[in-house]
Amino acid sequence: MAKKGLGHELWRKTLDNALNPNPPTLGTLLGSSASALENLIGRGGFSEVYKGSLQNGRLIAVKKLTTGSTDEKTAGFLSELGIIAHVDHPNTAKLVGCCVDGEMHIVFELSTLGSLGSVLHGSGSNKPKLDWSKRYKVALGIADGLLYLHENCERRIIHRDIKAENILLTENFEPQICDFGLAKWLPEQLTHHNVSTFEGTFGYFAPEYFMHGIVDEKTDVYSFGVLLLVIITGRKPVVEMQSIVTWAKPLLDANNVKDVVDPSLGDDYDQGQIECVGLTASMCVEQSPILRPRMNQVVTLLRGNDSALNAKANTVQRTYSQELLDVQEYNSTKYLSDLNRHKQIALSFDTSY
Ligand SMILES: Nc1ncnc2c1ncn2[C@@H]1O[C@H](COP(=O)(O)OP(=O)(O)O)[C@@H](O)[C@H]1O
Ligand SMILES: [Mg+2]
Repeated sequence: MAKKGLGHELWRKTLDNALNPNPPTLGTLLGSSASALENLIGRGGFSEVYKGSLQNGRLIAVKKLTTGSTDEKTAGFLSELGIIAHVDHPNTAKLVGCCVDGEMHIVFELSTLGSLGSVLHGSGSNKPKLDWSKRYKVALGIADGLLYLHENCERRIIHRDIKAENILLTENFEPQICDFGLAKWLPEQLTHHNVSTFEGTFGYFAPEYFMHGIVDEKTDVYSFGVLLLVIITGRKPVVEMQSIVTWAKPLLDANNVKDVVDPSLGDDYDQGQIECVGLTASMCVEQSPILRPRMNQVVTLLRGNDSALNAKANTVQRTYSQELLDVQEYNSTKYLSDLNRHKQIALSFDTSY
């Protein structure tokens, strides 16, 4: 697929806004509905998100950065804006603009159903029901969006925080990847980034990221695999200190998909589709990154193309020696000690968002 253009006009406009010494204020943007910041619809690790509307009636979500010093917020604001203004795909969040008036705000199109996390795990009685066909559509859409970020937009983008709370749903249950606050551009000549600051969401971390700070496409693939498990099972990624991976992967590998399916679905699902999603999830959460598929393989696997499975086996063989240079050997003793470290760190983590 051809790489997509930058959306230069929007990009320039947004950067102008962000760097302009006098960017628009929220009042200018929202006009008479400047009081919209009373309607809190979401909260993440770094921000509060409010529902509002533009003067022309268009519904928006205003993300107000709340965490960190002014310098940290400014860095996060510019970094998220730089990436969100660069991406343009049906399965990524839609930027409307930004404004700075004491606080820093990024303005998005409103996704009326909120996040996949709130639909799956929220407590509201009027939350929409996610039947299997919708879950399957959501899984395919997120995979398409992530493939675009990794391989088809101008730069390689690693999201670094793929999770149910960072997937928005439009009224047609079209998923949109949001929250590019931790996302990184990966220059072509680098195999991966090494990060020293540990950020992201417990339960979704790939082992090599957790242990060695390695960030590349395969760390996103691991998180995507965890997200697929969340979609199939309806569970959270960590329940009472047990990871969804430790529980579900052995069952999926033994072909016991029935034992992991969300009980609220009953028998109302397409057996073939759920097996494809289960198998793909299991491959994405392999401990060793070399055994995980790339997103272009994932999108084919999810659609149940058997020849993709064979192609996958060949690709693993072909790239094994290359990738082995980049990935430390992951033997079982080390894995157990890593798991223990996972547990220790989990004890000091707030996993509520
Ligand atoms: N465009 C939007 N439409 C509807 N809800 C949104 C939108 N953007 C964010 N939200 C809600 O706000 C929450 C936090 O937004 P997010 O961008 O993930 O912030 P953070 O960087 O603080 O995690 C999301 O999980 C979601 O529930
Ligand atoms: Mg978030």
